[in-house]
Amino acid sequence: MPILEVKNIHKSFGGVEVLKGVGFSLERGRSLALIGSSGSGKTTLLRCLNFLEKPDAGAISVNGELLFDAADAGTHTESGVRKKRLHFGLVFQNFNLFPQYTALGNVTLARELLARDEDGFKTDKAQAIGRIRDEAEEILARVGLADKMGSYPHELSGGQQQRVAIARALALKPDILCFDEPTSALDPELSGEVLAAIRGLAERDTTMVIATHEMGFAREVSSHIIFLADGVVLEEGAPDRVLTNPQTERLRSFLGAVL
Ligand SMILES: Nc1ncnc2c1ncn2[C@@H]1O[C@H](COP(=O)(O)OP(=O)(O)OP(=O)(O)O)[C@@H](O)[C@H]1O
Ligand SMILES: [Mg+2]
Repeated sequence: MPILEVKNIHKSFGGVEVLKGVGFSLERGRSLALIGSSGSGKTTLLRCLNFLEKPDAGAISVNGELLFDAADAGTHTESGVRKKRLHFGLVFQNFNLFPQYTALGNVTLARELLARDEDGFKTDKAQAIGRIRDEAEEILARVGLADKMGSYPHELSGGQQQRVAIARALALKPDILCFDEPTSALDPELSGEVLAAIRGLAERDTTMVIATHEMGFAREVSSHIIFLADGVVLEEGAPDRVLTNPQTERLRSFLGAVL
């Protein structure tokens, strides 16, 4: 069973239909690269997956559980959506760290807030917080920030901040980690260290959906590529096939422009 199944997503803004029936599925431990021209709807699709936008039509299932169905208002409740959002993590282009917290604080904050609602938190608060902290330290080390745990965002480079943002998303143990052009705000040198961190996640079989304009990275890190154009999945397949043997003129000219 695929970990993620997306069916027939439609989304319009002010009468303009951006997504016109997008669907795909993703197996656990695989990563999907989302490519397409500026304005093709990559960000919109990621926002729909993370319940930051509500699709006009379509359905989203994770692990066989129907999380959202546009035709079923019962799947749209606010409290339900908050829980469902936890199936997904989203790393934005611009990091969005909390400036008043250290790297470690940024990674533990959401986990601690969530833990407050869990059974046993009040009776064994110190232990619960210790466990969250240990995990956060382990995750920060995994993205190469063992020596920056106590640094504040303004003391970190863009690449380091982005890796804190990745660690923060990982700390919530999402089923699917989504990235929206994780390196587009970075210099090539800094983007290399972020790409290396994401490559490390792929090697650990993290399930990911990555919108990117870096075709070399898409080829290296993804097991499947989706080309969005005209509001639909115009082409998809294994990275080598999609990038070296495009079947449509549309993809050929897109690749010609970006490669
Ligand atoms: N909140 C919104 N209100 C109105 N229009 C929107 C909104 N969000 C996105 N759009 C429009 O939807 C279309 C798709 O935008 P989207 O940001 O998803 O594209 P993208 O593929 O991520 O582009 P890029 O590569 O530049 O990031 C664009 O035409 C955009 O102007
Ligand atoms: Mg975008």
